[in-house]
Amino acid sequence: MTTLLKLTVVATLCCAPSLTVHAANISEGEYLYKQFRCAECHGTDGKTSPAKNALPLAGMDPDHIFMKTKRFIESRAHEQVLQGCGEPPSHVQIKKVSDYLATLPK
Ligand code: HEC
Repeated sequence: MTTLLKLTVVATLCCAPSLTVHAANISEGEYLYKQFRCAECHGTDGKTSPAKNALPLAGMDPDHIFMKTKRFIESRAHEQVLQGCGEPPSHVQIKKVSDYLATLPK
């Protein structure tokens, strides 16, 4: 079962509106994580990194991931992230990716 499918199941099972919104953000974060090619270096599970030196992000503090990613993108340290994308991820998108990564097992 893919993670996206699992998240969909979780989203379906949780009936409380706040939980549903949260789960939707998480699965959107998973989509964005792939869309912005983070997975190409940090691994689809956020820890089995295909790229050398790419740190595991799974289960990290979401605020830490958010701040670091924002800084990387602003300083253009993550230059390759921007290749092939029309524009870099917005703050809202980075937040969703961070929240998604924080839910992954370390
Ligand atoms: C071209 C490969 C590559 C891509 C694509 C990439 N990263 Fe990275 N990332 C790295 C490498 C290498 C490091 C570690 C070296 C460094 O600190 O610059 C890193 C470090 C990080 C860190 C810092 C972790 C820490 O604790 O210091 C965060 C957060 C991060 N990446 C998030 C992302 C996100 C989110 C994306 C997608 C928007 C992304 N990265 C895309 C290669 C990549």
